[in-house]
Amino acid sequence: MPLPIEAITPHGRRTSQIRNPPQRIAPALADDFRNIVHTLPLRNQHTVIDVGCGDGFFTSLLAENQARVVGLDNSDAFLRQARANYGNRQNLEFLKGDVRRLPFDDASVDIVWSAHSMHSYPDVPHCLAEFRRVLRPGGLLAVLESDNVHSVMLSWPPDLELTVRQAEHQQIGDEDSYIGTYFPRFAVRLLGDAGFEIPTRQYFLINRFAPAGDDLQLFVQLYLENLFERTHDRLSDKMRSRLALLADPSSDKFLPNQKSFHFGSLQVLTLGHVPNA
Ligand SMILES: C[S@@+](CC[C@H](N)C(=O)[O-])C[C@H]1O[C@@H](n2cnc3c(N)ncnc32)[C@H](O)[C@@H]1O
Repeated sequence: MPLPIEAITPHGRRTSQIRNPPQRIAPALADDFRNIVHTLPLRNQHTVIDVGCGDGFFTSLLAENQARVVGLDNSDAFLRQARANYGNRQNLEFLKGDVRRLPFDDASVDIVWSAHSMHSYPDVPHCLAEFRRVLRPGGLLAVLESDNVHSVMLSWPPDLELTVRQAEHQQIGDEDSYIGTYFPRFAVRLLGDAGFEIPTRQYFLINRFAPAGDDLQLFVQLYLENLFERTHDRLSDKMRSRLALLADPSSDKFLPNQKSFHFGSLQVLTLGHVPNA
């Protein structure tokens, strides 16, 4: 499982990533994500659901615009975390449910929001059809994703990056697996197939430069360690050791400590409307 920008969390399948305390990068980029969320046409009377809500980070940003927001996830651990983080907000609730069968009536929701979760959903086309089912005529599906190649862009040596990305791609597997991981490449076709009107896409570039703060340093370290774990058996000894040094805070090659360090993330917001009846 690739490690996208949104989370290094204590839950789910990324057990090798567990650190104490758990780290995620999204809160360090909260202003950038808030700006993206605030481009949505949210209204007070809207019912908004945040599917695959995780720890509720985006649910809380959506709720800032005073819509009624329901965060939905199938993980008890994430829901516990979300309620601990944001459970005191009036217009926000968290619900257990599966994106393959949402606990909402047909045509009962104004906005479905899904962020950074497509890679973890089983059967993406089925999930999109389910989002379409619960949305009212004129309702909006908003999907925030980052193509795996542009999710975490770093100032690392290009030959090493290309080699590691190739190995990573092999590890991700066939199209059924990678459709969520590279979602923005397929978004227009997938949303069209699910019955949404011609989707639009907006690209947002998040940038951070040296000196990297502690959160970003740790994120990059864990991100590269995760890449190492997933790709090392497909890399030559030389590439393996170069990658390991970039991820090692005690090495003078540690990537976030380099003068020319850059972290970028290209976030893609895909919007699809349900046709009006
Ligand atoms: C990578 S996290 C993203 C969380 C959140 N949207 C964010 O961006 O911070 C993916 C989330 O999708 C949830 N998820 C995966 N499969 C699901 C399913 N079948 N039904 C509901 N939630 C699911 C996971 O439990 C996890 O919380």
